[in-house]
Amino acid sequence: MILVVGSINMDVNIRVKSLPKPGETVLAKGITQSPGGKGANQAVAAAKAGGDVVMLGCVGADEAGDALLASLDQFGVNTKYIMRTKDVPSSKAYINISDDSENNIVVDSSANWMVSPEYLLKHEELFRQAEYCILQLEIPSDSVYMAEQLSKKYGVKIVFNPSPIDSFEIRLLENVDTLIVNQTEGEILSQIPADEITDKDWQQLMEAHNIRSVVQTLGSRGSRLYVRDEEAVTFPAMKCEAIDTTGAGDTFLGALIAMYAEGKDDREAFRFAAAASGIEVTRPGTQSAMPTREEVLSKIK
Ligand code: RIB
Repeated sequence: MILVVGSINMDVNIRVKSLPKPGETVLAKGITQSPGGKGANQAVAAAKAGGDVVMLGCVGADEAGDALLASLDQFGVNTKYIMRTKDVPSSKAYINISDDSENNIVVDSSANWMVSPEYLLKHEELFRQAEYCILQLEIPSDSVYMAEQLSKKYGVKIVFNPSPIDSFEIRLLENVDTLIVNQTEGEILSQIPADEITDKDWQQLMEAHNIRSVVQTLGSRGSRLYVRDEEAVTFPAMKCEAIDTTGAGDTFLGALIAMYAEGKDDREAFRFAAAASGIEVTRPGTQSAMPTREEVLSKIK
C-alpha cells in the first residue's frame, strides 16, 4: 500500500496572458476551480496508475471539502482516514497560468495546517501496513517529520518531495529512500547553482543524509536518477504540446511510485511516469487531467 500524507487544496486556476511581474496588475482571461494540492494530486496519480493508495490529510466541513473528497474517491484513493474540520475552511491554491503554460502558485493553507503529529499518531497502524510513504511540504513540517519517524519505525520507504521549498528543513532529509526535486528545489537544497551541480555533489548529499536515491525532474529535458554509489542515468521526457503544466511533477511522482510498488525496474517506471506527466500537461487542471493506467500504456505502445 502507498500512504500519502499531505495537502488537499481547491485550486483556483486563473488564466492570464503572461504572469504578472512584481508590482504589475494583469487581467484574468478566465477563472475555474478544480481539485488539487500536492498530496492529493500525487495520491490520485498513483491510484490512476494502478496503485493501492490511502491518504491522510484534512479538508474543511464545507462545499470545497465535499468536492475534494469526491475527486479523491472517484479516482480510487482511500479517503476513509481523512479528517474534516469545522474550525477552518478547506485549503485553496491560487494558480496563475500563462498562455505559454508557465504558472505560479500561492497556497492558503487553512485545513492543511490541521494535519498534526497527533493525528498521524492516531493512524500509526497505516504506517505498519504501508510499503511507501509519500510526503511534501504543504502541511506542518513537524507532521512531515512525524510521518518520517513512523515510516522509519515500520521500515516504510520514504518518498520526499520538498515542495514548496521555502518550508524545507534539513532534518527532513535523513534516511529518505527517494528524494524527488525539480531544478529550483535541487539548487536550494544543495546550495549549488543548477548548471554547476555535478553527479559527485548529489552523491555527497546522499551520503551525508543517508538518502538512497535522488530523482531530479528537468521539464522537457526529462529526468535524472542518482542512486547512491551508482552511475547517474538520464531518462527522456515524452514530446507533447503543453497547455497547463500544473501538477506535472505530482503526476510524474505518483506514477513513478505506483510502478515501483508494482516491482517495475527504473527504466519501465520512468518511461511510464514520463508518459503520464506528458499526457497530463496537454489537458487543463490536475487530477482530472491525469491519464489512467490504460491511457498511459496505450501511449507507450
Ligand atoms: O503541484 C501542483 C499543486 O500545487 C496544485 O494543485 C496546488 O494545489 C498546489 O498545491
